[in-house]
Amino acid sequence: MAPQQDTLCAPFPPLVSRIAQEAVVVDDQILKIDHFLNHRIDPSLMQAIGAELATRLDRFCPDLIVTAEASGIPPALAAALSAQLPLVYAKKYDPDVPTPALTRRVPSPTRGRETQLVITARFLPAGARVAIVDDFLANGRTALALAEMIREARATVVVAAFVVEKLFQKGREPLLELGIPVVALAQIERFVAGQPILAGWPLGS
Ligand code: G4P
Repeated sequence: MAPQQDTLCAPFPPLVSRIAQEAVVVDDQILKIDHFLNHRIDPSLMQAIGAELATRLDRFCPDLIVTAEASGIPPALAAALSAQLPLVYAKKYDPDVPTPALTRRVPSPTRGRETQLVITARFLPAGARVAIVDDFLANGRTALALAEMIREARATVVVAAFVVEKLFQKGREPLLELGIPVVALAQIERFVAGQPILAGWPLGS
C-alpha cells in the first residue's frame, strides 16, 4: 500500500515548537533558525531530528543517504547514524573530486550565484536505493539536481526528506512528478506579519 503523505509530513513537535517560538522571518521569504539548525547547531535536537527522519525513511528501505554540503550534512548525518546507513554528500566546486564525477549546476539564492554540485561516481553504486536528506525544501532545485545525479548513476531515489519544507515555494511538485515521496518534519504554509504559519500547528502554541 502507498504510504500516506500526511504521516510522512506530520509536524515533529520538538522541532515545530521551536520554530513557532524562536524563528525570525526575513523579507517574508526566509526562515532564520540558524541558532539551532544550520549555523549554530543544537546537537540534542539534531539527534532527535535524525531519529525521526530515520523512522520515516525506514519504510522505503534505503541503503544509502545522499545530501549536499553544507547545511544538509548535519541532519543527514544524524539520520544516517540513527538508521545505520552510509552517507554521501555532494561537494560544491571541489576540484579534487576523483573522476568520473557526476555534476549539476544549481542557482543558490543564499550565495547569489550558481553552485556546482559534484559527487564521485563510485560513491553512487548502480542499483542503490537512495534517500535524499536536506535541511530546507524551497524551490527544490538542489533536491532535483541530486535526484538527476543519482538517476544518472543508475541508482533509485526512493524518498526525499527535509527538516523544513516551505510549501508556498512548491519544491515538492517536481519531486512528486518523478514519483519521489516527500518527507518533512515541519511545513511552512506562509508567513504572516513576520510569523511562520506552520501546517498542522495552531498559531501561538
Ligand atoms: P532548494 O533548497 O529547494 O533548492 O531551494 P532554493 O534554490 O530556493 O534554495 C537554495 C538554498 O537556500 C539552500 O541553501 C537552502 O537551504 C536555502 N534556503 C531556502 N529557503 C531557506 C529558508 O527559508 N531559510 C534558510 N535558512 N535557508 C533557506 P544552499 O545555498 O544550498 O546553502 P548551504 O546548504 O550551503 O548553506
